[in-house]
Amino acid sequence: MGICLPESDRSDVTQIVMVMVGLPARGKSFISGKVKRYLRWTSVKAEVFNVGSYRRTDNPHPDAKFFDVNNAEGEKARKAAAEAALNDMLEWFKDKDNKVAILDATNSTKSRRKWIHDKIVEAKLLHIFVESKCDNEDLIMSNILEVKTSSPDYIGQDPEEAARDFRDRIRNYEKVYQTIDESEKQLTYVKIINIGERVVINLIQDYLQSRLVYYLTNLHIKPRSIWLSRHGESEYNLEGKIGGDANLSERGQRYARLLPDLVRRSGLPKDAPLTIWTSTLRRTSQTAKYLQKELGWEKLQWKALDELDSGVCDGMTYKEISDKFPEDFQARDDDKYNYRYRGGESYRDVVIRLEPIIMELERSENIIIITHQAIVRCILAYFMEIPQEKSPWMEVPLHTLMKLTPKAYGTEVERFKADIPAVSTWRPKGSTAKHHDSVSEGMSDAAVGDLKNLKLTETPNADADARLGTAKGGREDVADTGFSMP
Ligand code: ATP
Ligand code: F6P
Repeated sequence: MGICLPESDRSDVTQIVMVMVGLPARGKSFISGKVKRYLRWTSVKAEVFNVGSYRRTDNPHPDAKFFDVNNAEGEKARKAAAEAALNDMLEWFKDKDNKVAILDATNSTKSRRKWIHDKIVEAKLLHIFVESKCDNEDLIMSNILEVKTSSPDYIGQDPEEAARDFRDRIRNYEKVYQTIDESEKQLTYVKIINIGERVVINLIQDYLQSRLVYYLTNLHIKPRSIWLSRHGESEYNLEGKIGGDANLSERGQRYARLLPDLVRRSGLPKDAPLTIWTSTLRRTSQTAKYLQKELGWEKLQWKALDELDSGVCDGMTYKEISDKFPEDFQARDDDKYNYRYRGGESYRDVVIRLEPIIMELERSENIIIITHQAIVRCILAYFMEIPQEKSPWMEVPLHTLMKLTPKAYGTEVERFKADIPAVSTWRPKGSTAKHHDSVSEGMSDAAVGDLKNLKLTETPNADADARLGTAKGGREDVADTGFSMP
């Protein structure tokens, strides 16, 4: 029987507090959210403790005066919020499965950092201070306009007034702000200056700390998109067989021919060639053929983008697998994320091999990826924070191009459906039915070569809800996740 790994087998990983440092509007919450999402995707239990949310329970809409150093009341309330967040965080660490807590606050003075450091040491936890330092006034102003004027602190206020008040808040912090320097060399820290223009790293000792540093130094905020598509329908898809290295079907070839137009019409940046990433399997290269030929884009093949290896089941239909290996078939349905095919892989294995792809994606600008069903699911799980029990069951139809655009606190996803029929390779739990021709999948058909553009946005997580001041799951621009789950 295939192997099921335990839900979390990370006893080797130490418990670490990542302490954010920096003036307001320096991307601390942005970084915190991304790190949490990345760690959770790699099965490391992580949580953000945002001091602002604690402060908001008593002071939901403070103006800049609240943050004035001479305001004793304000100072007291802010210290109380920091204490409450820190205490909750220490409590959270009592569960040894919880590995990385991110303390999201300005922590802008040496004395505040010493207090936090002492508490962390006392609790026998490791730490890493992450300072974001930025003196680019234009960028700070655009950060304020992008996220701060719509913060829960300023609900119902005129955005210009909110921006002015937020500038004053920053000025108040500037009066006491002390950047991390030589005098704090006993701390483990990474200091990111002007979004990676310069990086200072101090005293990294642990494997997870160094992974975090690597991730953090790869982040950028240049506007860009990632286009993502499965290969066109293959001959194996038509036969209901999994795995293999089949050629595209006639309909799959039509999708490949249409793809350059589909990509063009999805909105390309001017004069910015995309790099095409495919797997090493024929069906993805064949799908990318016209993108290369017509648009002249460079193509890179990644073994890491190959389809989930189904081991001894490669080349079989789901019915054949359930007849030959009924226990395995059941075990996979019971825990699809962790089930590893005999001689093959699990979704968990795939995520591990995709980690370098995610790192490279974070560093890169515009990329188009042509890959496979399980791989698309894992990549989407990273960008959309889809939990492990759901991601392997996501419906990702053939002949559909997705455009992922990272935003401040999430990823916007647009889907462009080519009107070229294809079988549906999605298998609901318990079913052994052969792949069948897909019936509209909730999307209406357009004329041949025409597109159905569904603009979808990542369902926000609880932290983002707190920041955006909306009810859980209730952000207004969320149409739907667009991916069916059972
Ligand atoms: P506050 O202290 O008010 O909570 P913050 O530092 O947490 O502020 P964010 O809410 O994270 O600030 O700001 C998000 C904005 O910061 C986004 O527009 C994002 O593009 C931008 N950003 C992300 N990383 C950085 C960085 N390293 N330096 C400056 N800005 C950044
Ligand atoms: O059926 C197409 C396919 O890409 C197979 O090659 C692969 O084994 C399968 O999808 C992965 O999907 P699932 O994990 O739902 O079986």
